[in-house]
Amino acid sequence: MLKSLRNQLVIALGAVVSLFAILQGVSSYQFCVAGMSAVLDLRMEQVASRLRVGFGEGIPTVPARGSQDARDIFIVMWKDGETQPVRTTEPSLLLPRNAVEGFSSPIVNGEGWRIYTARDGAQTVQVAQRLSVRHEIEETAATKTLWPIVVLIPLVWAAVIFVVSRSLRELNRLGNKVRDIDVNHLQALPLARVPTELLPFIRSINLMIERLARSIESERKFISDAAHELRTPLTALQLQADNLQRDVMPSNQERFRALQGGIARSSNLISQLLRLARADAPPVGQSMTRAMISVDVSAAVVNAISDVLPIAMQRGIDIGADEMVSAKVRAIELDIGTVIKNLVSNAVRYTPDGGTIDLSTRVHDGMVSVEVKDTGSGIDETLLPRVFDRFFRANTDIEGSGLGLSIVKAIVTRYGGTVTLRNRDDGQSGIVATVSLPIEPDGAG
Ligand SMILES: Nc1ncnc2c1ncn2[C@@H]1O[C@H](COP(=O)(O)OP(=O)(O)OP(=O)(O)O)[C@@H](O)[C@H]1O
Ligand SMILES: [Mg+2]
Repeated sequence: MLKSLRNQLVIALGAVVSLFAILQGVSSYQFCVAGMSAVLDLRMEQVASRLRVGFGEGIPTVPARGSQDARDIFIVMWKDGETQPVRTTEPSLLLPRNAVEGFSSPIVNGEGWRIYTARDGAQTVQVAQRLSVRHEIEETAATKTLWPIVVLIPLVWAAVIFVVSRSLRELNRLGNKVRDIDVNHLQALPLARVPTELLPFIRSINLMIERLARSIESERKFISDAAHELRTPLTALQLQADNLQRDVMPSNQERFRALQGGIARSSNLISQLLRLARADAPPVGQSMTRAMISVDVSAAVVNAISDVLPIAMQRGIDIGADEMVSAKVRAIELDIGTVIKNLVSNAVRYTPDGGTIDLSTRVHDGMVSVEVKDTGSGIDETLLPRVFDRFFRANTDIEGSGLGLSIVKAIVTRYGGTVTLRNRDDGQSGIVATVSLPIEPDGAG
């Protein structure tokens, strides 16, 4: 079964055109053979009619045997009362004298001949030609009519392939566009230049994209609203718990702290959910563009380090930056801060006390990359592909909501960047998290 539409069209069209060409070839070959045969007959008839009006006198009475070219027309003339031909161009050729008047094709001397016999009073004129010679002449002429078709068939195949490929190019273009569609790029397919036959199909896809975008947006809005709704009572709960702390008996203080810890974790989860809903929101045209400024990535790195410095020092973690290159990206400042802070906070959180965290920024191919390298325990290779999934936690011994990297991914994708996490390959255990963002024009330096 041929699955490719292009191949199906090429083969079907090519086969139909080739079939017509072959039929055309066969029929023109046959017409040509018949035409040549008629011409050769006419020539024999004309020769005979000339001989009847006296042209035969020029033929020698007894020519040498075999002196005539085998491909020629042979002539034999008889006279009533004479047993031998009165004139002949080949004495060894014994044509049947009593052959029917007009054309006949008898076997003479073991060979097929075409003979034209004309009787005029006492005189019989016979003009003959070998059938093999006639066939050769006919075939040579007919074969020449096949050449244009032989040349044309490959040309037609090439033309069919070209035309079909060209027509399907638009389909490939649309296919590429559809391939690029994902949750972060839910844009309708362009209808310009789409062939009429494909329009209903593309419109249906666009309706599907619209429905998908609406349902994703309503899911996002639900998460955002739910997080908002939960935040107020949780903040109140936290305040009440703080106020209550003084009145809790010392024997219950530990359980009370566990309760406070639970409230704090829930608050953190809600904050992360709100950040994710914000990062996932579709870029709202002008208002987003207005909020975008030129953000220095190395400044965001310095900020992120100073944020975690107290806790890093407390835990004996050596955090620092080398290879700092200043590069600017056009973005909302808070977004870039969130991205770097989430990676740095992961490094601090998952690196044991006394570890090392190195940050660096590099510029390459119009992108600025920030690398955060730690000396933690790394992540199991089988779990690595899932770290960007929401609520996925590779390490459940350490607290976290499992949303930090999802937020990073959502923000980075929105700006046309990438984020990757890999285990170190320099012999040490730990993670190398790399985020790359497109530099704004003239933003490097
Ligand atoms: N530097 C790292 N070293 C080891 N494991 C890591 C590192 N960064 C991320 N991980 C693993 O990937 C998981 C997902 O990280 P992510 O930042 O999304 O969530 P989290 O840190 O658990 O929670 P939070 O939402 O508070 O950031 C983590 O639970 C952790 O297991
Ligand atoms: Mg995290």
